[in-house]
Amino acid sequence: MSNRRDFMGMALGGFTALGGIAALYAMKRTWDPLPSVKAAGFTTIDLSAAEENVLNVEKWRGKPIFVLKKPKKDKPDPRDVVIGDAHFSITVGLCTHLGCIPAYFPGEEKFKCACHGGEYDVNAKNIFGPPPRPLDIPPFKIDGTKLVLGETGPEYEKMLADGLTLKV
Ligand code: FES
Repeated sequence: MSNRRDFMGMALGGFTALGGIAALYAMKRTWDPLPSVKAAGFTTIDLSAAEENVLNVEKWRGKPIFVLKKPKKDKPDPRDVVIGDAHFSITVGLCTHLGCIPAYFPGEEKFKCACHGGEYDVNAKNIFGPPPRPLDIPPFKIDGTKLVLGETGPEYEKMLADGLTLKV
């Protein structure tokens, strides 16, 4: 009898642990849908699985980072991060007015900030309301299909030199 109870306990425990792992996995997928590795202030994100017009939010040095693969029909922009033939809008997800986190509306291809009504286009350029400048671009380096946040590659250096972003 006690053996049977032990077995039931173990089976139930195993089931609970599996359920917990499944729940954690589901949460991880929601928070962090693109494969990424974090180490010593750098975050490496593999962009090969990114879907068009779907906003992914990464975390880098405590800041939300917006990773958005622009729809192919959209015009190229000097702020684009180009990987292969894909164009990405990569920005720090903090409104340049007073720092709220804007939301992305894929149907309109706009970021909107609920705090004071600021709006940004798909390139994260301010197009309406109080934000004084586009969303900032974090330092990045392109490594094949991966993006390394926190490293400074030539593409980012050029954007800085051209005045397309402030240094964060
Ligand atoms: S903080 Fe975004 S519009 Fe004011």
